[in-house]
Amino acid sequence: MSERHKIRVAVVFGGRSTEHAVSCASAGLVLGAIDRERYDVVPIGIARDGRWLLTSADPARLAIGSGELPSVEAVATPGVCVTPRTGLGTGTLVVTGPAEIPPGFGDVDVVLPLLHGPYGEDGTLQGLLEMTGIRYAGAGVLASAAGMDKEYMKILFAARGLPVGRYVVVRDRDWGAGAPAAERKRVLDEIAELGWPVFVKPARGGSSIGTTRVSGLADLEAAIEDARQYDRKVLVEAAIEGAEIECAVLEGADGGPPEASLPGQVVIDPHSEFYDFAAKYLGAQTTMIIPAPIPGAAAERVRQLACAAFDAISCEGLARVDFFYTPGGEILINEINTMPGMTPASGFPMMWAASGLPLPELIDRIITSALRKPAGPR
Ligand SMILES: Nc1ncnc2c1ncn2[C@@H]1O[C@H](COP(=O)(O)OP(=O)(O)O)[C@@H](O)[C@H]1O
Ligand SMILES: [Mg+2]
Repeated sequence: MSERHKIRVAVVFGGRSTEHAVSCASAGLVLGAIDRERYDVVPIGIARDGRWLLTSADPARLAIGSGELPSVEAVATPGVCVTPRTGLGTGTLVVTGPAEIPPGFGDVDVVLPLLHGPYGEDGTLQGLLEMTGIRYAGAGVLASAAGMDKEYMKILFAARGLPVGRYVVVRDRDWGAGAPAAERKRVLDEIAELGWPVFVKPARGGSSIGTTRVSGLADLEAAIEDARQYDRKVLVEAAIEGAEIECAVLEGADGGPPEASLPGQVVIDPHSEFYDFAAKYLGAQTTMIIPAPIPGAAAERVRQLACAAFDAISCEGLARVDFFYTPGGEILINEINTMPGMTPASGFPMMWAASGLPLPELIDRIITSALRKPAGPR
């Protein structure tokens, strides 16, 4: 394929959320695997302060190593800024700075937003790209917002009859400064009915940041306060005992029904109490068994539920759906991730590879489904 016929993809990563470093690591894996014969890559990092910057596309500089966590700031091209701008018909990314920028450099065909968490995976970036008329991969505004918010995610799953665990929502209205003591008491009483232990987590969080396992009333308030540092809305969930099973989903080829990968089982580093940040990204001993060692009928059910969860939030492109498989054989959905981690330790790329779709083809498939869609509102 000649140079000018290549598809121009902006790989956008980093971002303002607590998952900045994870997103950089996702970008590292994708930049190392994307087919350069087919795609021209424009690497764009969103710094922690929100600036959009042109960056290096060197995968090695974005990996999570033993030393410092990767960041956009560390790989940015000095002084070169990127601004999404509305155009006639389709928008563009305006790239300005002291470096020599070839004409049309920011006229990308599609954005691949490899962002996790708020300001990226939650519909805000998706809304910005629709406003500016720039085509993008992955979930749209509604699915991104619903997939980010663990309360609404569960409401939509339950509305479709999908199995979810029991939980209580702690709102700022119930808990923040000025909340009536009676409201706090009502919330604490509801939580006590869940039984112990419980999991306390920010409603719109990720990578287990701000999540605590609480074994009794004495530690509950501190855990809620901790989660509230990340989101003023907090979820308290009954702990579910069971194996953590994940399943990767892709939008159907040519717009058909979604397709599920082989499920995998996470085997958490024994040094961690649950699948926390260290076990996810820093624990060399966290592994994944693919296919998950569960009965065939359970694996089939997981795949069906993963596709149903994808459809329940009107997801597009890709997702990873996470489950608990209890010793009694019950399967409950924990959550959907509309931009699953793509780090070398992440389930999404590993499960697809084990299902016969190697990473370069997986990336190609995600971009191709985005190119089928119009720019602007979908
Ligand atoms: N209700 C629960 N029961 C048992 N473990 C849980 C529960 N909720 C969360 N966890 C543990 O915490 C981890 C992170 O929680 P999760 O809801 O998946 O948030 P995140 O979006 O941060 O990944 C899970 O992978 C699991 O190990
Ligand atoms: Mg999770």
